[in-house]
Amino acid sequence: MTAIRRKPTVLVIHGPNLNMLGRREPETYGTETLDQINQGLKALGSDLGIDVTVFQSNYEGAMVEAIHKAFEEKTDGIIINPAAYTHTSVAIKDALLMLSCPMIEVHLSNIYKREAFRHKSMVSDVVTGQIAGLGSRGYRLALTALAELIG
Ligand code: DQA
Repeated sequence: MTAIRRKPTVLVIHGPNLNMLGRREPETYGTETLDQINQGLKALGSDLGIDVTVFQSNYEGAMVEAIHKAFEEKTDGIIINPAAYTHTSVAIKDALLMLSCPMIEVHLSNIYKREAFRHKSMVSDVVTGQIAGLGSRGYRLALTALAELIG
């Protein structure tokens, strides 16, 4: 008997203010909108045979609950840009600690070239890897890497 395997699933979590991409400090974050980035990820996902789900919230608790859902649903991979919560959120860090799937932290800007308070990421020691400073390309690279890691 052959087991029927579902397509691998990847959840992309975008944190606060990323819904304003395209209009928000374009010199730092680029001119692409979040919708354009998400559409690109879905298209790449379909080429890679991965089911991509996207989630954005301006609320820390909603992001924590999205991670709980990923845990319950046994999501195969996570891409997360916690945005400002990167630098502050023990709650998001603790939620990610529950997961055992590969996880990639993405930042559009190079947080290490910016103000000192952005140099510390609460989640970098929990995730599999981090991509920072490559703009929206970072998300696509993260998805390509996850496709390899998930196998
Ligand atoms: C960001 C960097 C954070 O410091 C900032 O608060 C953001 C976006 C990035 O993608 O470069 O909102 O995560």
